[in-house]
Amino acid sequence: MTVPAQPAPLAGKRVVLGVTGSIAAYKAIDLARRLEEGGATVDVALTANAARFAPALTFHSVIRGTVASDMFDAAAPELHVELGRRADLLLIAPATATTLAKLASGVGDSLVTLTALATTAPVLVAPAMDSRMYANAATQANLETLRARGVSFVGPDEGRLASGERGLGRMSEPEVVVGAVRALIGRAGGDLRGRRVVVSAGGTREAIDPVRFLGNRSSGKMGFALAEAARDRGAAVSLVSTQAPPPALYGVSVEEVESAEEMREALARRLRDADVLVMAAAVADYRPAETAARKRKKQEDAAGWDLALQENPDLIAGLDGSFVKVGFAAETDDLIANAAAKLRKKGLDLIVANDVTDPEAGFGGDTNRIVLLDGRGEPEALPLLSKYDAAQRVLDRVAALLAER
Ligand code: PMT
Repeated sequence: MTVPAQPAPLAGKRVVLGVTGSIAAYKAIDLARRLEEGGATVDVALTANAARFAPALTFHSVIRGTVASDMFDAAAPELHVELGRRADLLLIAPATATTLAKLASGVGDSLVTLTALATTAPVLVAPAMDSRMYANAATQANLETLRARGVSFVGPDEGRLASGERGLGRMSEPEVVVGAVRALIGRAGGDLRGRRVVVSAGGTREAIDPVRFLGNRSSGKMGFALAEAARDRGAAVSLVSTQAPPPALYGVSVEEVESAEEMREALARRLRDADVLVMAAAVADYRPAETAARKRKKQEDAAGWDLALQENPDLIAGLDGSFVKVGFAAETDDLIANAAAKLRKKGLDLIVANDVTDPEAGFGGDTNRIVLLDGRGEPEALPLLSKYDAAQRVLDRVAALLAER
């Protein structure tokens, strides 16, 4: 079944992408494409040096907005003012050491640096340079100056550099930069800005011995989608996960755990000043009564293995505070009745029911078919959605619950 189209995360937003003269300029083409795929309209301003690495023509084929590099264009003499005015965000990627110096001292000698001077939009910079240039005291002082003025940075990362050496100076990968753009745009105008949202993701692993565990089929994708969507709406997001999150979750504070007990401890710490808890994690109801310190050997004379189990505490029911509590119900039978019982028993504000026998819903895939229950109105059954869009619908309810408080 086809998933209905929902508004893209950057729909209606205008990003001005300033590209400067680094070998990493080739990544700016993919970056521009990804921003457009995310719903943004992208304008590209190139320095003359950037145009040598990544020609204007290539950008024209991947974006809908303006591509320009000439600051003396008689047809558009005030283009830098216009670009600065219409930007929801100015992204400079890659930014060379020289560009950082110019930004720090207010030099406007290219369409990129002139636009930076002319804009009042948030500015995000993705530096790219040799590691020694990055470590240079002048560059570090320029970064400090820009940070103090409210400029945000993404990267640089460790890795292979143009010189062939490895070091700190590689421009962050485009999907990470897009994550940073979405986080910053959310913080500037999202309806959850100023809110602290804690999300759990993945299936807990309950150790039997050093090599075996009791686990379940959760991939973490539903929790990642919730963390991503909350971040895009401006929240400060904490994710407690049994699975490593994807790089696109830039800006989310992540703690990786294994067992239900580790998850409980991490959640309790992170919930101290939280406004919302969303428990998408599949927490084991039982754990082995004992965890062996050494690998249990195959018992040649035994017909089987009786594993004694002990009940885990119910995390969401036991975590108290004034935060909005959202649980999930993974059901194979009586979806609505079982979810409604869990909503009451666990003291939740909202429960998200999913039928995990449906191949398009629940564990593992990229889609879900959810029903929202709050114990007040009728259950709201949503159509098949991507996990990200389903997360947005859950957060619509969360935003309404927060507004009521
Ligand atoms: O990770 P994916 O592959 O994307 O799959 C997503 C998902 C199917 C895991 C997710 O959509 C989902 O349904 N998560 C909840 C799974 C679950 O544990 O459901 P439950 O019905 O057993 O538990 C109800 C609620 O109580 C859940 O919010 C659960 O996190 C919580 N719980 C359960 C047991 C326990 N000991 N402590 C808890 O807090």
